[in-house]
Amino acid sequence: MTEGKQLRSIRGTRDLLPGETETWDVVEGVVREIMALYQYREIRTPIFEETQLFARGIGEYTDIVKKEMYTFEDQGGRSLTLRPEGTAPVVRAYLEHKLAAQGTMEKLYYLGPMFRQEAPQKGRARQFHQFGAEVIGTDVPEADAEIILLFLAVLDALGLESWSLHIGSLGCQNCRPAYREELVAFVKGVEDLLCEDCRGRIETNPLRILDCKREGCRLATAKAPSQLDYLDEACREHFETVKRLLADRSVPFTVDPRMVRGLDYYERTTFEVLNPDLGAQDALCGGGRYDGLAEMIGGEERVPGVGFAAGLERILLALEAGGESLEFEPLCEVALVHVGDEARRHLFALCDVLRRAGVASTMDLTERSVKAQMREANRREALLALIVGDKELKEGTVTLKNLVDGEEETVPLEKVVPAVLNRLEALEEAAVEEEPEEWTGEDEGPDLDPGEAA
Ligand code: HAM
Repeated sequence: MTEGKQLRSIRGTRDLLPGETETWDVVEGVVREIMALYQYREIRTPIFEETQLFARGIGEYTDIVKKEMYTFEDQGGRSLTLRPEGTAPVVRAYLEHKLAAQGTMEKLYYLGPMFRQEAPQKGRARQFHQFGAEVIGTDVPEADAEIILLFLAVLDALGLESWSLHIGSLGCQNCRPAYREELVAFVKGVEDLLCEDCRGRIETNPLRILDCKREGCRLATAKAPSQLDYLDEACREHFETVKRLLADRSVPFTVDPRMVRGLDYYERTTFEVLNPDLGAQDALCGGGRYDGLAEMIGGEERVPGVGFAAGLERILLALEAGGESLEFEPLCEVALVHVGDEARRHLFALCDVLRRAGVASTMDLTERSVKAQMREANRREALLALIVGDKELKEGTVTLKNLVDGEEETVPLEKVVPAVLNRLEALEEAAVEEEPEEWTGEDEGPDLDPGEAA
């Protein structure tokens, strides 16, 4: 009988439950903080767009467009697609709203769900979440380096220390054709050793062959020519400058002469940041320069851009694997405990008054025993309990129990809010006093002899 079947979430999608959402909030908060520090402003684009935006932007022959998009027809017969990535939509919005006057640039960031119909596995989902940033309107290498530094600043703020940065350059429309010709000639020479998919890619997307995971294809292309040897003067200089800017900031990186990204809009710089604890899906973030994208999606002129996007799920997995403690319980200041129906009604109003006074308060809305309610208050690590039973109702008071030291007092009803605020303040002060003092470096400096200090 299908009627009674319990419906479940779609494979490759996931509910984020209480306990997890708090952690996500913290990570997203860190992202927003770093974006503000670097002066990037948030943009929110729709979840679905015209299919053409992605087909033209990401590239018809990429895996994303060929096999992974969630595409559907709406009632008006238009072909729409759930966004598989954020860059093409951001550039579309930039052009549509003329976000920057010619000769100026815009720095944008975004955060939200993306959709790709890939085979789900650890670190790979069908609905996943990215945060990303784009610098649109300039092709100077400082923009490429800044985008990389920005992502590394997020990792630093999150305390994620295990990563490696891999960078490459794909050249531009000027120098890529010569490389492509060489590559096609090379792969034609080893065609018999390639898998069927890769044989099909020789004419449509030869670069992708270098990214094939099959052992046969990897061996066959081990000696394939590298784009880095075909960069023209301007692209070589651009790449050299990006590397120098990173080295100047002491950022370690590896040049990957075979880096292939899954999207066709890249030119010049490409990069990925990998994490060693993630297994097969080890890319925390990927990005690069896309100077031709605006024109590919119908822009009237060339608008250079560079950016990155990072997988939130993967960052959380990496933090967990690195032993970072990621549990954040929301603070509960007061638990209201009732004995009987009348007291419950009474406390219901008081609970609302406390919340409006800015106190995080909880009360049980079932008819559980006092013992069960107190157990729940302890589970939530409430700081205070307000208890009302027959005696308190008759006297017009409440029993205020400090759950940190166990002390109890009787407080007249009209004085409950100030009394609660008072006790919370005292608890906060006591907690601050317990914290170890931060060393400011002012009171005791290292011993230097006068000669050294000068
Ligand atoms: P991407 O490499 O396709 O680039 O994705 C960026 C990151 O999103 C990946 O490194 C990974 O962390 C995460 N990711 C991708 N697919 C999945 C998935 N199925 N499940 C979980 N996480 C995933 C882009 O999307 C480009 N728009 C990046 C960019 C921005 N380039 C320039 N600007």
